[in-house]
Amino acid sequence: MERSFSLPFLFLVFSLLLLLFRCSSAQMPGFVSLDCGGTVTYIDELGLEWVPDDHLVYGEKATISVSNETRRQYVTLRHFPADSKKYCYNFNVTSRTRYLVRATFLYGNFDNNNVYPKFDISLGATHWSTIVISDANSVEVLELIFLASSPTISVCLSNATIGQPFISTLELRQFNGSIYYTPFEDRFFLSVSARINFGADSEAPIRYPDDPFDRIWESDSIKKANYLVDVAAGTKKVSTKMPIIINSDDRPPEKVMQTAVVGTNGSLTYRVNLDGFPGFGWAFSYFAEIEDLAPDESRKFRLVLQNDPEYSKPIVNIEENAQGKYRVYEPGYPNISLPFVLSFKFVKTSDSSRGPLLNAMEINKYLEKNDGTLDGNVINDVVLLYSSSEWAQEGGDPCLPVPWSWVQCNQDERPRIVSIFLSYKNLTGNIPADFTKLSGLVEIWLDGNSLTGPIPDFTGCPDVKIIHLENNQLTGELPSSLSNLPNLRELYVQNNMLSGTVPSGLLSKNLVLNYSGNINLREGGGRGKHIGIIIGSSVGAAVLLIATIASCIFMRKGKRRYNNRDELRHSLPVQSLASTLNDAPAEAAHCFSLYEIEDATKSFEKKIGSGGFGVVYYGKMKDEKEIAVKVLTSNSYQGKREFTNEVTLLSRIHHKNLVQFLGYCQEEGRSILVYEFMHNGTLKEHLYGPLTREQSINWIKRLEIAEDAARGIEYLHTGCVPAIIHRDLKTSNILLDKHMRAKVSDFGLSKFAVDGASHVSSIVRGTVGYLDPEYYISQQLTDKSDVYSFGVILLELMSGQEAISNESFGVNCRNIVQWAKLHIESGDIQGIIDPSLHDEYDIQSMWKIAEKALMCVQPHGHMRPSISDVLKEIQDAISIEKEALAAREGNSDDMSRNSIHSSLNMGSLDLVGTENYLSLDESIVRPTAR
Ligand SMILES: *[C@@H]1O[C@H](CO)[C@@H](O)[C@H](O)[C@H]1NC(C)=O
Ligand SMILES: *[C@@H]1O[C@H](CO)[C@@H](O)[C@H](O)[C@H]1NC(C)=O
Repeated sequence: MERSFSLPFLFLVFSLLLLLFRCSSAQMPGFVSLDCGGTVTYIDELGLEWVPDDHLVYGEKATISVSNETRRQYVTLRHFPADSKKYCYNFNVTSRTRYLVRATFLYGNFDNNNVYPKFDISLGATHWSTIVISDANSVEVLELIFLASSPTISVCLSNATIGQPFISTLELRQFNGSIYYTPFEDRFFLSVSARINFGADSEAPIRYPDDPFDRIWESDSIKKANYLVDVAAGTKKVSTKMPIIINSDDRPPEKVMQTAVVGTNGSLTYRVNLDGFPGFGWAFSYFAEIEDLAPDESRKFRLVLQNDPEYSKPIVNIEENAQGKYRVYEPGYPNISLPFVLSFKFVKTSDSSRGPLLNAMEINKYLEKNDGTLDGNVINDVVLLYSSSEWAQEGGDPCLPVPWSWVQCNQDERPRIVSIFLSYKNLTGNIPADFTKLSGLVEIWLDGNSLTGPIPDFTGCPDVKIIHLENNQLTGELPSSLSNLPNLRELYVQNNMLSGTVPSGLLSKNLVLNYSGNINLREGGGRGKHIGIIIGSSVGAAVLLIATIASCIFMRKGKRRYNNRDELRHSLPVQSLASTLNDAPAEAAHCFSLYEIEDATKSFEKKIGSGGFGVVYYGKMKDEKEIAVKVLTSNSYQGKREFTNEVTLLSRIHHKNLVQFLGYCQEEGRSILVYEFMHNGTLKEHLYGPLTREQSINWIKRLEIAEDAARGIEYLHTGCVPAIIHRDLKTSNILLDKHMRAKVSDFGLSKFAVDGASHVSSIVRGTVGYLDPEYYISQQLTDKSDVYSFGVILLELMSGQEAISNESFGVNCRNIVQWAKLHIESGDIQGIIDPSLHDEYDIQSMWKIAEKALMCVQPHGHMRPSISDVLKEIQDAISIEKEALAAREGNSDDMSRNSIHSSLNMGSLDLVGTENYLSLDESIVRPTAR
């Protein structure tokens, strides 16, 4: 196994600490609990010994005070500058041993800034997670299980994009034997998503000392968003005081196995959000029969996962599988594909007298390891030589996720070190020969140190261009091998104690060479003169010098030019397209004459709408085609620009869920756009306009409208090159045709997303209530800004409320997002559902949309799903709604049930089991009942 971590400066400290642990021996060996920012060592009420991280040379301590969190380790934290460096904690570990590493974060407004930080955490070279604080007063917990492949590991914080990186605790727990072995463990870590103790008797988690490895088994009775909702009716907690035969360390502790839930009506159902998913994961359930079954009773059940009949094949019979009562049976999947929102059911078989029972469950996600730089071993040997120097203590991978401060790396997947900057670092001894093993090295600066001994052979670094060794105490000759370096352009060795003659090969090379100040070094040819600086040996050098200067100027200019070009690119597509409009008819929109338009609209007789850019009129062409004519307010320059923008854009965009653009007219100072006419107006009118009283649209129709609109937006985001961000999505920009199919309209605010850049900076535009808060603050526009607006639209579809209202949302709340979030997160979805839907909807599909909507309106863009994700979720909700609708309609008709079933289970003949399955759907408890 490659050893790619630096041997850290903390070893001594940690070894000492480990000794301390052994002495106190209250806890397992291989436990380290760092109280970041702490000052003293202490033992907490669990018997865990916490030690301060005060050996750390970086960062600052801070003290916080958060009500409800009295644990001592959360009174302090350590925070780091928001710069481009990484800050690492290094730990000694035993190679080929599995560990759990847990990092926790309690912000507590330590910086008095109330800006919730966002930064990255990595384990070695592997990006572990992006920490996004969303609540100042609750602890974020991250856990990772890994097989140590080197004697040290490091946990690093870097890449602060908001606020300062910080950390409250770091815990390391060593496992025994083959616990958490997976066939993939050399290439993947396991990132912990869920570890649940079912039937828990309190909200407190079970951990050390009940769990000898201090895994945290979370109680199933905690109330938090999307955590174990959709509980089936008849779900009961059971528990026993009888000892459970655990047998193996890796199983849950006895206390966890002594409680369980039982589906007394025949099923257990749960829905839970899985952090880090979708992806491949490791999922196990733990069962122990802890109820007394009469001799003629049985408990047999199977797992039901949405859309995957395969998982329903195995039948669990706990007593039989575990070979007795009070024994653990632990079926699971070492590699299973799981969604972010996991719904699962355990359903009893038809011949079982008891419903299913579940004691515990664990789900981890596979996180692919990054092996880091190829030069890890080599450079770590150098670092070892100087382990007491600060620069040698940075820890983590030399290149990833960000390089050490004195190193530069290339962009390869497994990077190589290209530059070493160790000028004036007080280096002593010989120049470490390991530097010459860096095969990608281009630049090395070791000047101004106290290095002694000879100059090593750099032949192993064929790309090396720049070598700075001046102002040291180097002795020996200038190696002639230097002249064989094909790319060498700068060699500075002045003010050393070199001797002998300068190799003629160097003198005849095109390079900047300075060897002055070496008393015994001669140019050769026996002239005995100590020549100072030689800049090359011929005219070539002058050319080189000029080239260097010129390239600097050019680079500067180039940089500025690039910036200009960058700015240009924002408007470029419009301009270049506008010009192609004139000379490339293929791209051009149809040009109507003003006469035609006046004729069609009967001189602008019937006004059908008005928006930010002008008034829309109804029109009918000679061929009976109905049109919508948008006359732009002509006096605004902005309006004109938007006009050109829209014309060029629209003429290129065709999608069935985007309002069709038919052409334009620009005559007599008027700018006019012509669209297809949409018979049913805007979605807004149907949701809360006067139209709603007579005929409100039902839930499935609303879902279909959402689907249509999402498709339109998906096309803008992914089907157009470059991608198009709408920028002003709202219910009045979603239009409905004769058949109530939706199309997205009004690209007046759209801008082309710049290729390669993740955002387009531009003046904030948009509509209050729909505006992405991140965009508003940062003015950085991304497709996720549209996703935010779309989330607002989903909430409007659910609730029939306007995005902004002075009355509807109660005191101090004018905004649909805050209002809906409050309700949804507390499980009260009923509180926001549009009363005009009259209970004619399936609560599951409603939940799906509610959750997705909340994800869309997350404060940070990167946490929001893509519109394609949202579209998939809407489609899922539609199929759930359709099934439910069919079930509602065929309620008393058993035949129709069976037909639904067979379409669900694709030919499975277990009709009796199906009865269970279907009746379950109907018995799902409304989450408000939790
Ligand atoms: C899990 O299975 C998938 C699909 O069969 C495979 O691509 C993947 O490499 C496997 N392992 C992990 C750790 O994801
Ligand atoms: C340089 O190194 C020497 C010997 O290792 C040490 O005594 C001295 O304090 C160091 N100086 C600096 C500036 O680090």
